[in-house]
Amino acid sequence: MKLRYKILIVVLVLVTGMLSWLAVSLSHDSPCGPAPALPEQTILMKAVVHRCYGAADVLRLEDVAKPTAADNEVLVQVHAASVNPLDWHYLRGTPYIVRLDSGFGKPENPRLGVDFAGTVAAVGKSVTHFKPGDEVFGGKFGAFAEYVSVREDRALVLKPANMTFEQAAAVPIAAITALQGLRDKGQIKPGQKVLINGASGGVGTFAVQLAKSFGAEVTGVCSTKNVAMVRSIGADHVIDYTQEDFTKSGEHYDLILDTVGNHTLLENRRALAPHGIFVIVGGPNNGQWIGPLMGLIDALVLSPFVSQKFRPFLAELNPGDLSILGDLMQAGKVTPVIDRQYALSEVPAAIRYLEAGHARGKVVINLK
Ligand SMILES: NC(=O)c1ccc[n+]([C@@H]2O[C@H](COP(=O)([O-])OP(=O)(O)OC[C@H]3O[C@@H](n4cnc5c(N)ncnc54)[C@H](OP(=O)(O)O)[C@@H]3O)[C@@H](O)[C@H]2O)c1
Repeated sequence: MKLRYKILIVVLVLVTGMLSWLAVSLSHDSPCGPAPALPEQTILMKAVVHRCYGAADVLRLEDVAKPTAADNEVLVQVHAASVNPLDWHYLRGTPYIVRLDSGFGKPENPRLGVDFAGTVAAVGKSVTHFKPGDEVFGGKFGAFAEYVSVREDRALVLKPANMTFEQAAAVPIAAITALQGLRDKGQIKPGQKVLINGASGGVGTFAVQLAKSFGAEVTGVCSTKNVAMVRSIGADHVIDYTQEDFTKSGEHYDLILDTVGNHTLLENRRALAPHGIFVIVGGPNNGQWIGPLMGLIDALVLSPFVSQKFRPFLAELNPGDLSILGDLMQAGKVTPVIDRQYALSEVPAAIRYLEAGHARGKVVINLK
């Protein structure tokens, strides 16, 4: 056998071995460990933790070390948090690809939650934009807790005075996703026909209101029980997906924001104008490996062959967009839709409810 074939076989064996090792490591679940012992003098707070991957049953409300504000950080007493699908993806460690970030076998950081609103309890010595007593909202991993410390330059802004802590906590991930999906990926323009698939969910309820504030003609897709609510937040037209399939209606939209992923991209293409844009926010949770990321692969394959644009994206929390959303809420143009509220000890129930896939707006954790 020629040398180059031998080298090729060795490379193939090595690559296959590495991929198999990665697959086994990513899908391996370590058992839940005990909480680590804390030094006696530790100042404690309550936080929701998971010391292994799994369903909501593995969550515990534990005493953990209360954070302090480093020089460039703001310590926030959390009054409200909100739940996002991201939380249960990190809780379960699925799709497994998430574990490249959250840790192999078990979570490197056992805390959960991102969205929060609360009051500044202390600031580090180099912090200039916040002071104790300020009412704020933002995003920081570990938000299902009594306190979080956040870098001053990260996703943290003042809460509009006319919003409750519960409303503010409902905003960060869902509203930023809707904003960046419509504005940056969808390049929304006044007068365009825009369809929001999943209009009654966390992202969808913000997307309907934001699309209206951009001057679009908005169609929301939801089930029968949510038709009146989606109309009440500003949708010009509502399609009840139990009665009608929007991909077969003959209508063509300039922009579709899809938070559900229940149609193939070829089916969705039927509902797009010739140069329409399809923004993929969420996908079906079918499969442990890449799950909702399947839409991304489909989009990459289809895009070069069609005139429409298919754009998967991941939202990014940042203070600039949080401020824009705060201003829109202050002006009464966007109002969070809150479905259920739970106590911190009830985070497992809140996550189970959201994971069932039929939340009506946002699910909030109330710590007051
Ligand atoms: N790309 C990103 O950066 C990003 C950011 C945030 C979220 N996401 C993803 O976006 C998706 C939505 O997030 P979310 O927070 O809005 O979730 P959510 O609040 O759990 O969404 C639930 C909503 O989906 C609706 N729904 C279910 N089946 C539907 C169907 N066949 N047609 C239309 N609507 C349907 C439900 O309405 P009914 O009860 O009426 O069925 C419910 O109101 C998730 O997959 C999430 O992981 C992605």
